[in-house]
Amino acid sequence: MAQQQAFILNGVETAVASEADTPLLYVLSDELALQGPRFGCGLAQCGSCSVLLDGVEVRACVTPLSAVLGRDVRTLEGLPSLYAETAGLDEVPEYTPLQTAIIEEQAIQCGYCYNGMIIKATELLNNNPSPTEAEVRAALNGHLCRCGTYPGLIRAVLKAAGSGGELA
Ligand code: FES
Ligand code: FES
Repeated sequence: MAQQQAFILNGVETAVASEADTPLLYVLSDELALQGPRFGCGLAQCGSCSVLLDGVEVRACVTPLSAVLGRDVRTLEGLPSLYAETAGLDEVPEYTPLQTAIIEEQAIQCGYCYNGMIIKATELLNNNPSPTEAEVRAALNGHLCRCGTYPGLIRAVLKAAGSGGELA
């Protein structure tokens, strides 16, 4: 066991005992039992393991624990609280508007890509609240969906952004 070290996980200072070179994904799933970030390729290729690190999407499968110490890590589980903070809400909703739009659009099939897609889309909307369809497509480009749900996901992101979700 390594010496305890800490980072901010979904708004809470969190101490872990994993070795400093342990991939963050293993720390989150094995030591902290989170089920949002998922192992897909392990090679930074698919995006299923993504988290927000200081607001920027990173691939947790290739990010060592040492790179996140003292920093802000948000996982899928922490997106509603992040939304509440950003929107100035007194209560944390069950789902973010983006998650609600994904449900309404029935945009997910097996769900394996869901974590990475929503992490990346959240990063996009936090930086660009009114993206164009082209900007949504470009943002999600590095995330693989083996079920081919891209049209529904893009519609959901546009809907969450308030544009109604009509594809060109
Ligand atoms: S598991 Fe990390 S990018 Fe595929
Ligand atoms: S919904 Fe199955 S991989 Fe995307």
